[in-house]
Amino acid sequence: MKLYYSPASPFVRKVLVCAHECGVANDIELVPTKVVPSEPNREYGRVTPLMKLPAFERDDGLVLFDSIVICEYVDSLSKGARLFPATGDARWHALRLHALSDGILDAAVLTRYENHVRPAELRWKAWSEGQLLKVDQALDFLEANVRDLEGLTIGTISVGCALGYLDFRYPDRPWRQGRPKLAAWYESFAKRPSFEKTVPKA
Ligand code: BEZ
Repeated sequence: MKLYYSPASPFVRKVLVCAHECGVANDIELVPTKVVPSEPNREYGRVTPLMKLPAFERDDGLVLFDSIVICEYVDSLSKGARLFPATGDARWHALRLHALSDGILDAAVLTRYENHVRPAELRWKAWSEGQLLKVDQALDFLEANVRDLEGLTIGTISVGCALGYLDFRYPDRPWRQGRPKLAAWYESFAKRPSFEKTVPKA
């Protein structure tokens, strides 16, 4: 099995954390892959038409994308923990956290591209501010609903990866300020070996 990968991508990190927690990380070959919106990677376009990271190739050649689908596939291979609750409210809480965290990441990654890849004279300040408002409101939601961050699920893993990405790319926006419960939760959760082994790198 192959994971098309960048050590900076928080969506890749989510898959890797799941793989470590499920005991299958050693079964996955990492394929370093460069993705920049202004320079389409045509070779990678033959693997996945969206040219987004991550993509996952099974041994039979089937390519899965995107991270939402790949995480669930990795969970289906688990030799240990199960990360997607099968039924009931536990499932909806986990999936809701997953969606919220991916929303934080979509906004944060797009804003990162806007402010670091787009030429300075073309940058759109009001657009970036609108994206970062989504991030801030989602963080406030998590602070208000910190009791939902229970246990190890795809939901809590995704929240951890989103907060880790903010530390990595937005050190000048101190998300912990005014959110002590979320900060305390992350302090403890990020000590998991699966998180320590997957700290993002440029
Ligand atoms: C980043 O460098 O921030 C990044 C890289 C790949 C995917 C998403 C974000």
